[in-house]
Amino acid sequence: MAHELVIKARILQAGAFRTICIGIDNGRISAVQAELKGEKEFHFENYLAMPGGVDIHTHMREPGFTNKEDFYTGTMSAAFGGTTTILDMPNTIPATDNAIAFQEKLELASEKANVDFGLFAQLADIDEIAKMAPMAIGFKLFMADTTSASSVDSPPEILLTSRHMVGKVVTVHAEDPGQFSNDECTDLHRHNLIRNMKAESEAVKTILAIDTPAKINLAHLTTRECVYMAQRNKSSFELTPHHILLDESMDLGAQGKVNPPLRKRPVVDKLFNVMKTGRAIIASDHAPHTLEEKSGDFAATPSGIPGVETRIPLMLALAEKGLVKHQAVQDMCCQLPADLFDLKKGRIEPGYDADLAFYDLQNMVKIDGQKLHSKARWTPFEGFGAIFPVGVMLRGNMIIRGGKLVMEKTGRNLTV
Ligand code: DOR
Ligand code: ZN
Repeated sequence: MAHELVIKARILQAGAFRTICIGIDNGRISAVQAELKGEKEFHFENYLAMPGGVDIHTHMREPGFTNKEDFYTGTMSAAFGGTTTILDMPNTIPATDNAIAFQEKLELASEKANVDFGLFAQLADIDEIAKMAPMAIGFKLFMADTTSASSVDSPPEILLTSRHMVGKVVTVHAEDPGQFSNDECTDLHRHNLIRNMKAESEAVKTILAIDTPAKINLAHLTTRECVYMAQRNKSSFELTPHHILLDESMDLGAQGKVNPPLRKRPVVDKLFNVMKTGRAIIASDHAPHTLEEKSGDFAATPSGIPGVETRIPLMLALAEKGLVKHQAVQDMCCQLPADLFDLKKGRIEPGYDADLAFYDLQNMVKIDGQKLHSKARWTPFEGFGAIFPVGVMLRGNMIIRGGKLVMEKTGRNLTV
């Protein structure tokens, strides 16, 4: 029997490139075989088809900061970078820490999202946690204050042992404010000294010592030591493109200001080597601020770097340069993050959503912040090599083709 749609393309299977047919019916992958018949057929043999990317750490900024981003622009930016699923963080205004705010944000996102999404709820109030649990893709715990987010008053031990945490992912921003110094923050080097590596490792120790029924996921780790702690504890962890590629000595000014901070080159290089193993989740921590906000006085500049659109393109460029395996990039950007949240995404296998991105691996370009689709329109990766997708499909429909968003606002919430 013919499938609704058959796409012939190159895919990665167990580390090797092969040309194969992907059968698609009702928005799902229904077969992956050497030959298939389709009512419609797309011939993309010159392109690598990867599963749509899954970015489990983004700040879409809505409601409250729509001068920086909103669900429409943030998810459009994701799509142009080959990412078809984003998870949104709760440090908005109002904060997503109660059921009413959650419901409001869910309506906004459902109306505007160009890719599929899930919303994090912030761990703060135990009664609200109970109400949000069925709707939330996971919970976020901030151990330290950071841009527009406050650490919570209730001790994490109490929140993390609630019965509503059973089986839920809790993404933890691990920095211990007790370790911060109060020097004046005048440049990236000082920022790194103030929010130092010990602050991160102490926080990681504290969290991993708690006996919780939740799945602890450590956000944006910046040191190999913290990664080892996570691995010993069998906890998942995220690495960001900026922490494996950028360091505090670079001439980025406040555009490189982020929490946790960019570290020194030898630390960055060790983290890069962790990434090369392919056993990490790459998440962008897409945290856009306006160029104006990022151009003022260093100390007053908010922390955060946009990155949802450059995450996979940068990683694929590294693969083309031979610095990491293509299969590892696919695993870290698609499959591992999807698996953590039990999503039927991130793989080109029967039963999974037909979310696909097509890449011409020969077409390496230099990143130009002006051409990105986030409201930020700047990037600390200006001039870096990147491979952007030429087409992107969400549940069987092409949403990006010919450099344009051709189908908009079809993103769905993943917890219904
Ligand atoms: O640099 C950061 N910016 N780190 C965070 O944890 C929050 C983020 C933001 O929302 O701007
Ligand atoms: Zn974040």
